[in-house]
Amino acid sequence: MMNNINHHGHKQPPAKKFKPSSPAVYTKKQAPIQCSGPKKMTLEEQRRNLPIYQARSQIIAQLRKLDSVVIIGETGSGKTTQIPQYLYEASIGRQGVIAVTQPRRVAAISLATRVSHERKTELSKLVGYTVRFEDVTSEETKIKFLTDGMLLREAIGDPLLRKYSVVILDEAHERTIHTDVLFGVVKSAQKKRKEQGKQPLKIIIMSATMDVDLFSEYFNAAPVLYLEGRQHPIQIFYAEESQSDYLQAALVTVFQVHQEVPASHDILVFLTGQEEIEAMTKTCRDIAKHLPDDCPKMVVMPLYASLPHAQQLRVFQNAPKGQRKVILSTNIAETSITIPGIKYVVDTGMVKAKKFNPESGLEVLAVQKVSKAQAWQRTGRAGREDSGICYRLYKEEEFEKFLDMTVPEIQRCNLASVMLQLLVLRVPNVHTFDFMSKPSPDSIQAAIDQLHLLGAVERKGDQIVLTPLGKKMSAFPLEPKFSKTILLSPKFHCTEEILTIVSLLSVDSVLHNPPSKRDEVQASRKKFISSEGDHITLLNIYRAFKNLGKNKEWCRENFINSRNMTMVLEVRSQLRDICIKLSMPMESSRTDTRNIRQCLAHGLFMHAAELQPDGSYTTVDTHQPVAIHPSSILFHCKPACVVYNELLHTSKCYMRDLCVVDADWLYEAAPDYFRRKLRTAN
Ligand code: CDP
Ligand code: MG
Repeated sequence: MMNNINHHGHKQPPAKKFKPSSPAVYTKKQAPIQCSGPKKMTLEEQRRNLPIYQARSQIIAQLRKLDSVVIIGETGSGKTTQIPQYLYEASIGRQGVIAVTQPRRVAAISLATRVSHERKTELSKLVGYTVRFEDVTSEETKIKFLTDGMLLREAIGDPLLRKYSVVILDEAHERTIHTDVLFGVVKSAQKKRKEQGKQPLKIIIMSATMDVDLFSEYFNAAPVLYLEGRQHPIQIFYAEESQSDYLQAALVTVFQVHQEVPASHDILVFLTGQEEIEAMTKTCRDIAKHLPDDCPKMVVMPLYASLPHAQQLRVFQNAPKGQRKVILSTNIAETSITIPGIKYVVDTGMVKAKKFNPESGLEVLAVQKVSKAQAWQRTGRAGREDSGICYRLYKEEEFEKFLDMTVPEIQRCNLASVMLQLLVLRVPNVHTFDFMSKPSPDSIQAAIDQLHLLGAVERKGDQIVLTPLGKKMSAFPLEPKFSKTILLSPKFHCTEEILTIVSLLSVDSVLHNPPSKRDEVQASRKKFISSEGDHITLLNIYRAFKNLGKNKEWCRENFINSRNMTMVLEVRSQLRDICIKLSMPMESSRTDTRNIRQCLAHGLFMHAAELQPDGSYTTVDTHQPVAIHPSSILFHCKPACVVYNELLHTSKCYMRDLCVVDADWLYEAAPDYFRRKLRTAN
């Protein structure tokens, strides 16, 4: 959570001594296709100038005719913003609402905003969006952007999705777990609506990459429409040597380019996550301060999903004249966001993604190599407006060894939430659900076992069914472990506190950690620190915020992100409403934090770790070695037993967001489970 520590061992070079390495570290490779386009236009002109516009009438004709269709076009060609409008303008699907799903909430919000501008309407009227904990739509809304997770939740209420006439599953190439489940849900809704003679459901799958056979096949051989993109030639340079430190390599490359090319050529660097991006932003800014006077100024901007919205918007603005924009981004800039001005792409070849091992039951976030498809997508970002250059910080031989395609998330993550969702959707048999890419039977079983341990499912004959508890759990838009923790809280008389903690963990971090003010941040945070861990520390921060009248000024002084804090209030009130609907007693444990920790231990018992005699930690269930993440309040402490929220694999396997608990509480929470674990351990 507190992200001011760079655990990659990435050393900042002393600013003045910085020297770019010799320019000859790259070998040159290939250069594909095509021509250029103009600047500064009205919105209407911009719409007409998009590559997709030339195909407008053909697209409309096809969309009118077809039940299911796959549309492919390079990022930026106009798929997401235009196709919903084309449908609307051609009165296709006017009887209902046109849904456009997005894997990321940022994208859903910014696209809805853009399209409502293009239509000259107020957001929430004709065009709106729904993301978790935020609904900006109305009765009038006909074009609705929503996260794929939200459409899935809506399907629980109505598996036939009757409100919608068209569902556009966008960014399908990303194959997020929710998109994959949605494929099955909309396919089944379409079929059932047809069988029952109801209004037909049109399904449009949109992808930025060419590998669409699977999509087409899955949707009963749906036709594929290819859009002409606007792709300029891109030169690719590979590293001549294998790079042991991709951050250092990226830094050297950025400054090498910076000192050689005109300031108007912006640079986009692909990194893996918030922490390293923040650290690198600071390093770049420091180095840039000490460059010779004849070197252009550099404007360095971080970009990642949890960055405050206002800061995200900055990347779309041009740098002041004579200055160069350098954007350090996660894979968010691969497809879902189009940034103007980019001429150079620096691809580290790395990405942070989930990995799941059904045997150990561990899901970790790990930094790993990208797939070839991802690398091509990143490269493509350099050729949006004019010819471009891409530096790949790996050797060509290394590239050849990348996987062709990214493995869909559903085949590499914990499926507990998905299985719970399928059961709520009354899917007859979760083992045989029509997945486009089947997860392994082991991971399905592991998920069911977990839900069983949480008390959410039970076996009836050879059927797996939801228990009443499982049904209640599904009422919360949360991971099963968190909904379970909330449902357990009345037993520990601390529902108010647990709601606060879960809300704090459900939004982007409320802790603001500007790397340049590390000491001030630490001094200010001291007031809130609890030796009982991160959960209680966060609770203290929330309480102080609330007691002081939810004051923005206070947030600023204490390095708290007030926007995210306001979001916590909103999330909390929604979760509280669900509790009240479920007739849960709302009690506060006041100053007693023992109850709260006990409740967390009972909800998160599957995520527990124990101190070993040698001072290291291992997880309680599978004895995997783990360490306390440097961002944790407990980093310098050695509590005997903790529960954690997630595992992050970088140089080690780190636990993030920890709470000190008693081993006895864990045992009480799931005696059978721990007895079995102990047996397997022996
Ligand atoms: O979906 P696809 O990547 O094909 O393109 P799009 O998202 O419809 O974007 C088409 C163009 O609209 C982009 O190249 C941007 O110029 C513009 N756009 C924008 O200015 N702001 C947004 N939030 C989204 C798109
Ligand atoms: Mg798009």
